[in-house]
Amino acid sequence: MKLQVKNLSKKFRTSSSNSEYVTAIENIDLTINDGEFVCIVGPSGCGKSTLLNILAGLDKPTEGEIILNGHQIKGTGPDRIIVFQENALFPWLKVIENVEFGLKMAGLQKDKRRQIALSHLETMQLTKFADSYVYQLSGGMKQRVALARALVMDPDILLMDEPFASLDSQTRDLLSVELQLIWSKTRKNIIFVTHNIMESVCLGDRIFVFTNRPGKIKKEITVQHRRPRLSEDDELQPYYREVLSELKSEISAARKQKLD
Ligand SMILES: Nc1ncnc2c1ncn2[C@@H]1O[C@H](COP(=O)(O)OP(=O)(O)OP(=O)(O)O)[C@@H](O)[C@H]1O
Ligand SMILES: [Mg+2]
Repeated sequence: MKLQVKNLSKKFRTSSSNSEYVTAIENIDLTINDGEFVCIVGPSGCGKSTLLNILAGLDKPTEGEIILNGHQIKGTGPDRIIVFQENALFPWLKVIENVEFGLKMAGLQKDKRRQIALSHLETMQLTKFADSYVYQLSGGMKQRVALARALVMDPDILLMDEPFASLDSQTRDLLSVELQLIWSKTRKNIIFVTHNIMESVCLGDRIFVFTNRPGKIKKEITVQHRRPRLSEDDELQPYYREVLSELKSEISAARKQKLD
Protein backbone atom coordinates (compact mmCIF):
# COMPACT_ATOMS: atom_id res chain seq x y z
CA MET A 1 0.00 0.00 0.00
CA LYS A 2 1.19 3.46 -0.83
CA LEU A 3 -0.83 6.62 -0.46
CA GLN A 4 0.25 9.84 -2.07
CA VAL A 5 -1.43 13.14 -1.46
CA LYS A 6 -0.35 15.58 -4.15
CA ASN A 7 -0.73 19.34 -3.95
CA LEU A 8 -4.15 19.01 -2.34
CA SER A 9 -6.27 22.12 -1.70
CA LYS A 10 -9.88 22.56 -0.71
CA LYS A 11 -11.92 25.73 -0.83
CA PHE A 12 -15.45 25.94 0.53
CA ARG A 13 -18.02 28.50 -0.44
CA THR A 14 -18.91 30.42 2.73
CA SER A 15 -22.49 30.97 1.64
CA SER A 16 -24.46 29.70 -1.32
CA SER A 17 -25.47 33.18 -2.42
CA ASN A 18 -22.09 34.86 -2.85
CA SER A 19 -18.71 34.11 -4.24
CA GLU A 20 -16.73 34.16 -1.02
CA TYR A 21 -14.54 31.20 -0.24
CA VAL A 22 -12.69 29.86 2.72
CA THR A 23 -9.56 27.87 2.00
CA ALA A 24 -9.58 24.94 4.39
CA ILE A 25 -6.38 23.22 3.27
CA GLU A 26 -3.69 24.34 0.86
CA ASN A 27 -0.96 22.53 -1.04
CA ILE A 28 -0.84 19.41 1.08
CA ASP A 29 1.81 16.95 -0.07
CA LEU A 30 2.43 13.76 1.81
CA THR A 31 3.25 10.12 1.23
CA ILE A 32 2.24 7.33 3.54
CA ASN A 33 4.00 4.02 3.23
CA ASP A 34 2.76 0.52 3.89
CA GLY A 35 1.90 -0.19 7.51
CA GLU A 36 2.52 3.32 8.80
CA PHE A 37 0.65 4.92 11.67
CA VAL A 38 0.41 8.64 11.01
CA CYS A 39 -1.09 11.33 13.23
CA ILE A 40 -2.32 14.76 12.27
CA VAL A 41 -2.50 17.57 14.82
CA GLY A 42 -3.44 21.18 14.26
CA PRO A 43 -5.58 24.00 15.61
CA SER A 44 -9.34 23.77 15.42
CA GLY A 45 -10.64 24.66 11.97
CA CYS A 46 -7.33 24.08 10.15
CA GLY A 47 -8.83 21.49 7.83
CA LYS A 48 -8.00 18.13 9.45
CA SER A 49 -11.48 16.69 9.00
CA THR A 50 -11.60 18.15 5.51
CA LEU A 51 -8.47 16.22 4.57
CA LEU A 52 -9.79 13.01 6.13
CA ASN A 53 -13.14 13.34 4.35
CA ILE A 54 -11.36 13.82 1.03
CA LEU A 55 -9.20 10.78 1.73
CA ALA A 56 -12.34 8.79 2.50
CA GLY A 57 -13.85 9.97 -0.80
CA LEU A 58 -16.72 11.74 0.98
CA ASP A 59 -15.64 15.08 -0.45
CA LYS A 60 -13.67 16.24 -3.49
CA PRO A 61 -10.57 18.44 -3.53
CA THR A 62 -10.58 21.78 -5.34
CA GLU A 63 -7.07 21.09 -6.56
CA GLY A 64 -4.65 18.22 -6.44
CA GLU A 65 -5.14 14.48 -6.24
CA ILE A 66 -4.77 11.40 -4.10
CA ILE A 67 -3.12 8.31 -5.48
CA LEU A 68 -3.67 5.00 -3.72
CA ASN A 69 -1.63 2.07 -5.01
CA GLY A 70 -1.07 3.86 -8.29
CA HIS A 71 -4.71 4.82 -8.88
CA GLN A 72 -6.43 8.12 -8.33
CA ILE A 73 -9.10 8.08 -5.62
CA LYS A 74 -12.41 9.24 -7.04
CA GLY A 75 -14.94 8.28 -4.37
CA THR A 76 -15.55 6.09 -1.38
CA GLY A 77 -14.31 2.52 -1.36
CA PRO A 78 -13.97 -0.49 0.96
CA ASP A 79 -10.20 0.06 0.96
CA ARG A 80 -10.71 3.14 3.19
CA ILE A 81 -12.93 3.27 6.25
CA ILE A 82 -13.49 6.29 8.46
CA VAL A 83 -14.18 6.21 12.21
CA PHE A 84 -15.65 9.40 13.66
CA GLN A 85 -15.54 11.04 17.09
CA GLU A 86 -19.18 10.30 17.70
CA ASN A 87 -19.60 6.74 16.63
CA ALA A 88 -22.30 6.38 14.05
CA LEU A 89 -23.64 3.06 15.34
CA PHE A 90 -27.19 2.00 14.60
CA PRO A 91 -29.19 2.11 17.85
CA TRP A 92 -31.84 -0.31 16.57
CA LEU A 93 -29.29 -3.06 15.88
CA LYS A 94 -27.52 -5.30 18.35
CA VAL A 95 -23.75 -4.91 18.78
CA ILE A 96 -23.03 -7.98 16.63
CA GLU A 97 -25.39 -6.73 13.92
CA ASN A 98 -23.67 -3.34 13.92
CA VAL A 99 -20.31 -5.02 13.44
CA GLU A 100 -21.68 -7.28 10.68
CA PHE A 101 -23.42 -4.46 8.86
CA GLY A 102 -20.78 -3.69 6.20
CA LEU A 103 -20.27 -7.38 5.48
CA LYS A 104 -24.01 -7.84 5.03
CA MET A 105 -24.08 -4.94 2.59
CA ALA A 106 -21.17 -6.57 0.76
CA GLY A 107 -23.34 -9.67 0.36
CA LEU A 108 -21.47 -12.05 2.65
CA GLN A 109 -23.44 -15.08 3.87
CA LYS A 110 -24.80 -14.99 7.39
CA ASP A 111 -22.57 -17.71 8.91
CA LYS A 112 -19.42 -16.27 7.42
CA ARG A 113 -20.12 -12.69 8.45
CA ARG A 114 -21.10 -13.71 11.97
CA GLN A 115 -17.84 -15.63 12.34
CA ILE A 116 -15.77 -12.63 11.19
CA ALA A 117 -17.73 -10.21 13.37
CA LEU A 118 -17.38 -12.44 16.44
CA SER A 119 -13.63 -12.72 16.05
CA HIS A 120 -13.34 -8.91 15.96
CA LEU A 121 -15.61 -8.56 18.96
CA GLU A 122 -13.31 -10.95 20.79
CA THR A 123 -10.27 -8.80 19.90
CA MET A 124 -12.16 -5.85 21.39
CA GLN A 125 -13.10 -7.88 24.48
CA LEU A 126 -16.74 -7.41 23.73
CA THR A 127 -17.87 -11.00 23.19
CA LYS A 128 -20.19 -10.81 26.18
CA PHE A 129 -21.95 -7.81 24.69
CA ALA A 130 -22.63 -9.25 21.23
CA ASP A 131 -26.38 -9.30 21.85
CA SER A 132 -26.58 -6.00 23.70
CA TYR A 133 -27.92 -2.81 22.21
CA VAL A 134 -25.78 0.29 21.80
CA TYR A 135 -27.49 2.21 24.62
CA GLN A 136 -26.36 -0.51 27.05
CA LEU A 137 -22.67 0.24 26.40
CA SER A 138 -20.26 2.79 27.85
CA GLY A 139 -18.65 5.43 25.59
CA GLY A 140 -15.40 3.46 25.37
CA MET A 141 -17.25 0.26 24.48
CA LYS A 142 -19.16 2.06 21.74
CA GLN A 143 -15.93 3.28 20.19
CA ARG A 144 -14.55 -0.27 20.34
CA VAL A 145 -17.66 -1.46 18.48
CA ALA A 146 -17.11 1.30 15.91
CA LEU A 147 -13.50 0.13 15.54
CA ALA A 148 -14.57 -3.52 15.16
CA ARG A 149 -17.13 -2.47 12.56
CA ALA A 150 -14.39 -0.74 10.58
CA LEU A 151 -11.88 -3.59 10.94
CA VAL A 152 -14.23 -6.34 9.72
CA MET A 153 -14.12 -4.67 6.31
CA ASP A 154 -10.37 -5.29 6.23
CA PRO A 155 -9.58 -1.85 4.77
CA ASP A 156 -6.10 -0.87 3.59
CA ILE A 157 -6.43 2.39 5.43
CA LEU A 158 -8.23 3.28 8.62
CA LEU A 159 -9.07 6.98 8.84
CA MET A 160 -9.78 8.08 12.40
CA ASP A 161 -11.15 11.55 13.15
CA GLU A 162 -10.66 12.23 16.86
CA PRO A 163 -12.16 8.84 17.68
CA PHE A 164 -11.38 9.03 21.40
CA ALA A 165 -12.04 12.74 21.94
CA SER A 166 -15.30 12.33 23.81
CA LEU A 167 -13.91 9.75 26.26
CA ASP A 168 -12.45 10.27 29.72
CA SER A 169 -8.65 10.21 29.92
CA GLN A 170 -8.38 6.72 31.47
CA THR A 171 -10.57 5.10 28.82
CA ARG A 172 -8.68 7.05 26.22
CA ASP A 173 -5.29 5.76 27.44
CA LEU A 174 -6.63 2.22 27.48
CA LEU A 175 -7.96 2.45 23.95
CA SER A 176 -4.70 4.03 22.82
CA VAL A 177 -2.84 0.92 24.00
CA GLU A 178 -5.45 -1.40 22.44
CA LEU A 179 -5.21 0.43 19.14
CA GLN A 180 -1.42 0.10 19.16
CA LEU A 181 -1.75 -3.64 19.78
CA ILE A 182 -4.28 -4.02 16.95
CA TRP A 183 -2.04 -2.00 14.69
CA SER A 184 1.03 -4.13 15.53
CA LYS A 185 -0.99 -7.26 14.74
CA THR A 186 -2.70 -6.10 11.55
CA ARG A 187 -0.26 -3.44 10.28
CA LYS A 188 -3.16 -1.49 8.85
CA ASN A 189 -2.31 1.99 7.71
CA ILE A 190 -3.82 4.38 10.17
CA ILE A 191 -4.29 8.11 9.71
CA PHE A 192 -5.38 9.50 13.04
CA VAL A 193 -6.52 13.06 13.72
CA THR A 194 -6.29 14.31 17.28
CA HIS A 195 -6.18 17.48 19.37
CA ASN A 196 -4.35 15.63 22.07
CA ILE A 197 -0.58 16.01 21.71
CA MET A 198 0.31 13.09 23.99
CA GLU A 199 -2.05 10.86 22.06
CA SER A 200 -0.29 11.76 18.81
CA VAL A 201 3.10 11.00 20.37
CA CYS A 202 1.91 7.64 21.74
CA LEU A 203 0.33 6.57 18.47
CA GLY A 204 2.23 8.05 15.55
CA ASP A 205 5.26 6.79 13.68
CA ARG A 206 5.10 10.23 12.18
CA ILE A 207 3.18 13.29 13.28
CA PHE A 208 2.16 16.01 10.86
CA VAL A 209 1.64 19.35 12.57
CA PHE A 210 -0.69 21.56 10.57
CA THR A 211 -0.64 25.35 10.43
CA ASN A 212 -3.60 27.50 11.27
CA ARG A 213 -6.14 27.75 8.41
CA PRO A 214 -5.52 27.38 5.56
CA GLY A 215 -4.02 24.15 6.83
CA LYS A 216 -0.60 23.33 5.44
CA ILE A 217 1.96 20.93 6.79
CA LYS A 218 4.16 22.92 9.13
CA LYS A 219 6.34 20.18 10.50
CA GLU A 220 6.78 16.45 10.27
CA ILE A 221 8.04 14.76 13.43
CA THR A 222 9.20 11.14 13.50
CA VAL A 223 8.74 9.30 16.78
CA GLN A 224 11.12 6.40 17.26
CA HIS A 225 10.21 4.62 20.42
CA ARG A 226 9.18 1.10 21.38
CA ARG A 227 5.50 0.16 21.56
CA PRO A 228 3.09 0.04 23.18
CA ARG A 229 3.83 3.59 24.26
CA LEU A 230 2.19 4.90 27.39
CA SER A 231 1.32 8.52 28.08
CA GLU A 232 3.28 8.53 31.36
CA ASP A 233 6.47 7.41 29.63
CA ASP A 234 9.23 9.96 30.45
CA GLU A 235 11.15 9.25 27.27
CA LEU A 236 8.22 10.56 25.22
CA GLN A 237 8.43 13.99 26.84
CA PRO A 238 10.90 15.50 24.33
CA TYR A 239 8.55 14.55 21.47
CA TYR A 240 5.63 16.04 23.39
CA ARG A 241 7.51 19.32 23.84
CA GLU A 242 8.51 19.42 20.19
CA VAL A 243 4.91 19.00 18.97
CA LEU A 244 3.69 21.48 21.57
CA SER A 245 6.17 24.17 20.55
CA GLU A 246 5.21 23.79 16.87
CA LEU A 247 1.54 23.91 17.71
CA LYS A 248 1.53 26.79 20.19
CA SER A 249 2.06 29.59 17.70
CA GLU A 250 -0.54 28.10 15.36
CA ILE A 251 -3.14 27.90 18.08
CA SER A 252 -2.62 31.52 19.07
CA ALA A 253 -2.84 32.52 15.38
CA ALA A 254 -6.12 30.62 15.16
CA ARG A 255 -7.44 32.44 18.25
CA LYS A 256 -6.46 35.78 16.77
CA GLN A 257 -8.13 34.86 13.45
CA LYS A 258 -11.37 34.12 15.32
CA LEU A 259 -11.24 37.45 17.17
CA ASP A 260 -10.55 39.51 14.01
N1 LIG B 1 -19.00 21.58 4.19
C1 LIG B 1 -18.42 22.74 4.46
N2 LIG B 1 -18.88 23.90 3.95
C2 LIG B 1 -18.29 25.07 4.21
N3 LIG B 1 -17.20 25.20 4.97
C3 LIG B 1 -16.69 24.10 5.53
C4 LIG B 1 -17.27 22.80 5.31
N4 LIG B 1 -16.53 21.88 5.99
C5 LIG B 1 -15.56 22.57 6.60
N5 LIG B 1 -15.63 23.88 6.34
C6 LIG B 1 -14.72 24.94 6.80
O1 LIG B 1 -13.39 24.52 6.53
C7 LIG B 1 -12.52 24.83 7.59
C8 LIG B 1 -11.87 23.55 8.09
O2 LIG B 1 -12.83 22.73 8.73
P1 LIG B 1 -12.49 21.31 9.33
O3 LIG B 1 -13.74 20.75 9.87
O4 LIG B 1 -11.78 20.51 8.30
O5 LIG B 1 -11.47 21.68 10.49
P2 LIG B 1 -10.82 20.76 11.62
O6 LIG B 1 -9.34 20.99 11.55
O7 LIG B 1 -11.29 19.37 11.47
O8 LIG B 1 -11.39 21.43 12.95
P3 LIG B 1 -11.70 20.75 14.38
O9 LIG B 1 -10.36 20.50 15.01
O10 LIG B 1 -12.46 21.80 15.11
O11 LIG B 1 -12.47 19.49 14.14
C9 LIG B 1 -13.37 25.54 8.62
O12 LIG B 1 -13.23 26.92 8.45
C10 LIG B 1 -14.79 25.13 8.30
O13 LIG B 1 -15.69 26.13 8.63
MG1 LIG C 1 -12.43 18.10 12.72
